[in-house]
Amino acid sequence: MEGALTARDKVGVQDFVLLDAYTSESAFVDNLRKRFSENLIYTYIGTLLVSVNPYQELGIYTASQMRLYQGVNFFELPPHVYAIADNAYRTMCSELSNHFILISGESGAGKTEASKKILQYFAVTCPMTESLQIARDRLLLSNPVLEAFGNAKTLRNDNSSRFGKYMDIQFDSQGVPVGGHIISYLIEKSRVVYQSQGERNFHVFYQMLAGGEEERLASLGLQPDPRLYKYLSQGHCCKESSINDKNDWKTVCNAFSIIDFTHSDLENLFGIIASVLHLGNICFEEDERGCAMVPVNREIKWIAKLLGFCPSILLEALTHRKIEAKTEEVICPLTVELSVYARDALAKAVYGRTFTWLVNKINSSLVNKDLAQKTVIGLLDIYGFEVLDKNGFEQFCINYCNEKLQQLLIERTLTAEQAEYEAEGIQWEPIQYFNNKIICDLVEERHRGIISILDEECIRPGPATDLSFLEKLEEKVGKHAHFQTRKLAGPQARKRIGWMEFRLLHYAGEVTYCTQGFLEKNNDLLYTHLKEVLCRSKNSIVKECFLVAELRSRRRPPTVGTQFKNSLSSLLEILISKEPSYIRCIKPNERKEPSKFDDLLIRHQIKYLGLMEHLRVRRAGFAYRRKYEHFLQRYKSLCPDTWPHWHGPPGEGVERLIKYIGYKPEEYKLGKTKIFIRFPRTLFATEDAFEFSKHQLVARIQATYRGCRARREYLRKRRAATTLEAYWRGALARREIKRRRWAVQVVRRFIKGFIHRDKPLGPDNEEFIMFVRKNYILKLRYHVPRSVLDKSWLRPPGILESASDLLRTMCVRNLVRKYCRGLTAERKAMMQQKVVTSDIFGGKKEGYVESLKQPFASSRIDEGDINPKVLQLIGSERIQYAVPVIKYDRKGFKARQRQLILTQKAAYVVELAKIKQKIDYSALKGVSTSNLSDGILVIHVSPEDHKQKGDAVLQCEHVFEAVTKLTMLLKDDVVKVVQGSLQFYISPGKEGTIVFDTGPEEQVYKDKNGQLTVVSVRRKS
Ligand SMILES: Nc1ncnc2c1ncn2[C@@H]1O[C@H](COP(=O)(O)OP(=O)(O)OP(=O)(O)O)[C@@H](O)[C@H]1O
Ligand SMILES: [Mg+2]
Repeated sequence: MEGALTARDKVGVQDFVLLDAYTSESAFVDNLRKRFSENLIYTYIGTLLVSVNPYQELGIYTASQMRLYQGVNFFELPPHVYAIADNAYRTMCSELSNHFILISGESGAGKTEASKKILQYFAVTCPMTESLQIARDRLLLSNPVLEAFGNAKTLRNDNSSRFGKYMDIQFDSQGVPVGGHIISYLIEKSRVVYQSQGERNFHVFYQMLAGGEEERLASLGLQPDPRLYKYLSQGHCCKESSINDKNDWKTVCNAFSIIDFTHSDLENLFGIIASVLHLGNICFEEDERGCAMVPVNREIKWIAKLLGFCPSILLEALTHRKIEAKTEEVICPLTVELSVYARDALAKAVYGRTFTWLVNKINSSLVNKDLAQKTVIGLLDIYGFEVLDKNGFEQFCINYCNEKLQQLLIERTLTAEQAEYEAEGIQWEPIQYFNNKIICDLVEERHRGIISILDEECIRPGPATDLSFLEKLEEKVGKHAHFQTRKLAGPQARKRIGWMEFRLLHYAGEVTYCTQGFLEKNNDLLYTHLKEVLCRSKNSIVKECFLVAELRSRRRPPTVGTQFKNSLSSLLEILISKEPSYIRCIKPNERKEPSKFDDLLIRHQIKYLGLMEHLRVRRAGFAYRRKYEHFLQRYKSLCPDTWPHWHGPPGEGVERLIKYIGYKPEEYKLGKTKIFIRFPRTLFATEDAFEFSKHQLVARIQATYRGCRARREYLRKRRAATTLEAYWRGALARREIKRRRWAVQVVRRFIKGFIHRDKPLGPDNEEFIMFVRKNYILKLRYHVPRSVLDKSWLRPPGILESASDLLRTMCVRNLVRKYCRGLTAERKAMMQQKVVTSDIFGGKKEGYVESLKQPFASSRIDEGDINPKVLQLIGSERIQYAVPVIKYDRKGFKARQRQLILTQKAAYVVELAKIKQKIDYSALKGVSTSNLSDGILVIHVSPEDHKQKGDAVLQCEHVFEAVTKLTMLLKDDVVKVVQGSLQFYISPGKEGTIVFDTGPEEQVYKDKNGQLTVVSVRRKS
């Protein structure tokens, strides 16, 4: 509870004892308003619960809320009706004591709802065995039945309980609800026959008409429309949007089946309900003698049928009255007015007693036959103090009841306070309070009290009237300080009291009662004649309710007032023996609206509920008290000695704590088990200090917690990483093993293949050979020769040699083909010339190889360098080739510069403008060269050809080229490569010799033998 103290400015305090201005009604109302505006409908005064009807669903009655309050220290959670219920239940279980919860308040304040919530709380939270479920269901379902028969729509409440109810819930030693007992008080019977504008009769009538099946209604002689029945339609509001009669009837019928109602019970019960409705519709008319008669007998017949007696007897009983005159009985007719009275009295009596029968019936079904000791929690849902514009006999009874209950409350609170002080060893400080015993006595004292006076007036012979009763009151209690009448009052007050009225000064305030109807209601008279009829009824419920013994008894039955007084005193006896809890219900406005807070109305109720008085008693000593353990637990953080743990006795811890925070001696007292704090401000200061320190504590706790969580998270991640790593390594190792195993197999197969490589293709070597093949072919891609001159070739493995050869040939061919296709015409011609050269000189003459790389020219002398005369002489022959040469004279071997010009037909040796020698190809016999590196070439002519001078001995720098060109022009192989020497014709018939030799330097000379010696340098090869 202390938890909410910080928000007290906004939501008020949860316990009125913490109000500083505890004597101020305004402060009280203010606190209530603050809380109500935040939808906080509950507030404590110590252990008393003040509840304000929210008139809306707040979602605070869920199963989870119930669990929240279960077994929790009373002040730990915000005020709630569940806390009251749980506290009573826990104490009952632990101390094996009996309890009651008194719920009071105005009509519509929420008493019945509160009692239902408590019942539901027990039903849900108490331990339960399967066999006892039925008892629990009956306890719960007794409510709709009782509400159907005892509740009605009034102007103030659509479901107003028109009777007081005390319900005992019995628990076994395990705390299981095992049974129950209900006592009802003062059902408002007048409602059966009359309802004010906007009000209804008891729900059951409307429910049966709306929900009963057609056949059933027909068998009861009823129609579904309630407007057809006088007893149901006087208030002119048969239908009410907030009430669903049809559904409620279903619930009631279901409850009947669970609460042991037999078929015949129900038949009889429905018969009674229908009879009451029929009774209301009986109309009386005056006959010629001025007596009552019933013109239409339909209703009489139905009633007689349903209640099981003769219609004529009923008719007579309704229109006549038996008067006992000494020894005789005289029957005299009634006037219409008296017949109506008799009819209504009959309806009220039948309904009233049926209601009592119903309560008894429910009780018999709730009875627990187990004789083991039981403890009980009683729920008292009883009308609160009632002050209407016009207060009658009922209000008098109700307010008397409240006066008694207030007495009980104050006494019990005082006693409890005193007992607590005593138990805690704290000196008791007497409290001034108003003891309302004096008012109770005024009402109930034997012979002298108002009820006794009323009874006397009812039974005394002679004409007793309400006025005579008032006069008796004036006479007998006129001097009482709390009693006033118009006659007795002073001039001021007199104006506000009527002639027929008396005023009582109740503990809660003044109430003026009108004596009209007091006698009649107190007598509650039913003519003997009618009673006799009822006693003869074949309807077993009616028979049970109206016993013949009652008729025969000479004793007058107790009056309603006395009955009520007696039942109240037995109720108080019941209550006194039990531990009390209180719930005071307040209605926030008259219009049943949510969130509307009517100050005036609430002040009024605070007064009548005696809340200020209760608060005063509760606050007279100390505003706050708590067990040391709880106080220390909450505030220990305020003192370094007690934080975080105090290991000594809690009392000492609290002492240390309050010394540290500086409580002054007058502010507190230390009891045996509790600390008592005198002023709320002391507690508030402590709470504020706690609130301040809480933030620091929270930060520290948070930091530690976060650290802890981070560390836990880190360890978790580390573990996860290690696990992952281990798994990953395992996976890698397994993969490696697999790879290696595979590699071993591959290597093994490879080796085997290698061993068997030369064997015919088979499983042992097939793979290896395929591999070798593929591998060689793939490798070969990168080693294929790129040109015809590239003779390299990738060496093949043994098994592929023949394939390799084929491939190589293909490759070479391809290269050659490519090469050939790429040649130009000139190049081709030159190549052909080189081929010719090769044929002539290849391997025969030194210098040939070196000459290969020198390309041949088409001519070594431009046509411009040839003398035009020569050209003229050559004439039409086209010059094919011309080259400068040295011509050696055939005789003296003198060297002369000449040009050798080759045409298609002849070779010309030309000296400037002169053709020195023309050799027709037809006359050419051959061409000789040496095998050495010299440039000597000899063109042989026929020796017999006299036109020719002889062979031409020439030396040419381009000997290979010149010889080749000449050979090609000759179209014949006439070239001879000689070794050592050669013979030539100097002139026809005369030969000369040319000797070829090698030496250190090139020389051409005529040697001593007259031979031409040609020395050439030997080339290194
Ligand atoms: N705690 C609550 N939450 C929501 N609505 C409530 C609550 N208490 C009462 N009410 C509303 O107020 C109406 C009247 O309540 P209830 O019947 O308990 O009043 P009462 O005090 O028993 O009146 P009476 O003396 O006439 O029997 C209920 O029908 C319901 O609509
Ligand atoms: Mg009620």
